[in-house]
Parts: sequence; C-alpha cells; structure tokens
Amino acid sequence: MIALSGDLGTGKTTLARAILEGLRHTGEVPSPTFTLVQYYDALDPPIAHADLYRLDTPAEAEPLALDDWLVEGALLVEWPERLGRNLWPEALWLRLDGAGTPSRRLTWRAPPAWESRWPPR
Ligand SMILES: Nc1ncnc2c1ncn2[C@@H]1O[C@H](COP(=O)(O)OP(=O)(O)OP(=O)(O)O)[C@@H](O)[C@H]1O
Ligand SMILES: [Mg+2]
Repeated sequence: MIALSGDLGTGKTTLARAILEGLRHTGEVPSPTFTLVQYYDALDPPIAHADLYRLDTPAEAEPLALDDWLVEGALLVEWPERLGRNLWPEALWLRLDGAGTPSRRLTWRAPPAWESRWPPR
C-alpha cells in the first residue's frame, strides 16, 4: 500500500500514473476522483488506485473493501487521511507539496515493512 498524500493539485494522480506505467500498464489512467477506485487487475501485482477525497467519514470506505484487496493486490491511495492517519501502519507514505511551483517536494515515511524496498535504488 502506498499512501499518496498532499494538498489539491500537488501531483498525486500524476505520480500514480507514473507508478502504473512503471508496472507496465499501457492504457489510460483516469483519475478515480468520481469512481473512488479504478482497478488494474491485469498487472502483477494487481493494483487498485483509490481517491478518498469525496469521503466524509471512514465508514463510507467500508463498501470499497480496500483491506480485502490488499490480500492479493496492492493499493495506491490518494487522500488516505480521510481514513485517519494511523490506519495502514505498513503503508509507504509519500507526501507531495508545492503545487504549481517549480520546487515541488516529496517527503516520505517508510515503515519497517518497506525498509528493503525504499528508497528505490
Ligand atoms: N511533478 C510535476 N511537475 C509539474 N507539473 C505537475 C507535476 N505533477 C503534477 N503536475 C501537474 O499538476 C496538476 C495537478 O496534478 P494531479 O492531478 O496529479 O494532482 P493531484 O494531487 O492528483 O490533485 P487532486 O488532489 O485534485 O487529486 C496537473 O496539471 C499536472 O499535470
Ligand atoms: Mg488526484
């Protein structure tokens, strides 16, 4: 699970597109702002790309069954804070800042589960 955190327009969807491209996805990557989740299940691992911006309470995410998806697949989640910051302690947190400026900034929090995978070499 990769949490893509950051204010409006900081580049979360753009980064998700780059990650999907890195996993050899060749088609479109629509923003999940309205569908809430887009699935890329032909990839290895299968990816679900979620945008929780429109959720008002964590309970509204339950029908999305994101935890079930994590059993077999991986998750990219924009606006993960909508579910609280302490959910998914094993997630890699990528925080983007500086929308619209030439000096965009990426900060990360890598839990032990990610130690051998982050930063990428
Ligand atoms: N690294 C970058 N350098 C320059 N422009 C960028 C970069 N990342 C994103 N952008 C541009 O910033 C705009 C917003 O990007 P994007 O839609 O990825 O943001 P977002 O964080 O997903 O926004 P939202 O919070 O609405 O989901 C787009 O026009 C995109 O092309
Ligand atoms: Mg977005």
